Amino acid sequence: MASENRTGIPNSLQEHWMPFTSNKSFKKDPRLITEAKGVYIKDHKGRTQIDASSGLFCNPLGHGRKEIINAITKQLETLDFVTPFQQGFGGSFELATKIAKHTPGNLNQIFYTICGSTAVETALKISIAYHKARGHGQRFRFVGRERAYHGMNIGATSVGGMINNVKTFASILMPGVVHMRHTHLPEHKFVKGQPETGAEMANDLERIATNFGAENIAACIVEPISGSTGTLVPPKGYLNKLREICDNHGILLIFDEVITGWGRTGSAFAAQEYGVTPDIMTMAKATTNGIVPMGVVAVKEEIYDTVVNSAPEGAIEMFHGYTYSGIPVAVAAALAVQDIFEKEDIFNKAKNLSSYFLDGLFSLKDIECIENIRGYGMMGGIDIKMSEKPGKAGFLTYKHCYEVGVNFKATGDCLIIAPPFICEKKQIDEIIDKLRKGISNYNKTI
Ligand SMILES: Cc1ncc(COP(=O)(O)O)c(C=O)c1O
Repeated sequence: MASENRTGIPNSLQEHWMPFTSNKSFKKDPRLITEAKGVYIKDHKGRTQIDASSGLFCNPLGHGRKEIINAITKQLETLDFVTPFQQGFGGSFELATKIAKHTPGNLNQIFYTICGSTAVETALKISIAYHKARGHGQRFRFVGRERAYHGMNIGATSVGGMINNVKTFASILMPGVVHMRHTHLPEHKFVKGQPETGAEMANDLERIATNFGAENIAACIVEPISGSTGTLVPPKGYLNKLREICDNHGILLIFDEVITGWGRTGSAFAAQEYGVTPDIMTMAKATTNGIVPMGVVAVKEEIYDTVVNSAPEGAIEMFHGYTYSGIPVAVAAALAVQDIFEKEDIFNKAKNLSSYFLDGLFSLKDIECIENIRGYGMMGGIDIKMSEKPGKAGFLTYKHCYEVGVNFKATGDCLIIAPPFICEKKQIDEIIDKLRKGISNYNKTI
């Protein structure tokens, strides 16, 4: 195929093994996206769609942002790559300072990774390195939570709790991981915002500490709001209780803010939104508005100091890092994103739009096949009643919605809705109207 046609329609769909995709079904009925601008995307049949999930939480600033494109181009023309080991470049330090201005407490030490999964893996390793440096090498256990999604490398899969992601790989997962129960209780149906009940679910951590020995646990990792499983909002007081239990037992608390970070809750991070400061925090996705892969781990100063000061002078203090840790093109994108966050007061924009979005989302409640709706900030989940087997109803609803021009991802039977923060109210209306149409069309088929 001629190179000028490379982004057009390919001759063959066969060779590409697509991730998290029903390959057989896709290749019979492909959905190829050819253009993206603002909050709209276009597919290979020329159909325009509104992006209702910000490219799966990646593009809160919308698509095709000139400021980011220009920054990337300029960076590539000046300095395209630096090996990040034992040398560096100015941009990554500048970005670390900017990120640290937004992180809560003294989570001021910034480690770059490639994506969300590698940020999580790094957070786990930093926990182990910290305890080892303090002479607590016996702390090898991690506590995760059911229905959590932390990514797909072995570390992240091990602490994650979504059954389909774990089943095939159970034999090679990390040893020593224990899971708390998820926080979604039957009485949380159609609750907008934080449920009033359920804080006591945090006592699962206390129970695990008793059963497995708190002195053996390195860290507890949670998404403040479980995103990929469909916006499970933490009950009021739940995260505070986790913090308290961790403090009592010297267990580190890791917040995975790959989705909730950078304004999704209306604050910079869910940590600030809920007033609970973790010891380590991960981020990715919106850090570069999704357009260049990048993960970030923010770490408390005392953790950094402990690890760094435990190594002999001149030695590498932590044997961990990636070839693509904080490469110039990702840093340039992230710096441009930081500028936009500031100039456009983006987190407040998300905060101000939230109630309008959530009211719209909950207005769909009357559609018969909808079993539950949840939401917080600019993220929401719609559960479609299961049909025959898990995932079928979600996928069919997704396809009906695609047909009427609204784009998002379905995980199992849950529709993940997370509009870009730059949406105008009329675009939120468009998302809700099209969701009503698409979901109702599915409803007619059952
Ligand atoms: C909370 C959370 N952590 C980690 C990840 C993994 O990120 P990535 O796909 O960039 O590896 C995701 C991805 O959706 C996520 O939602």
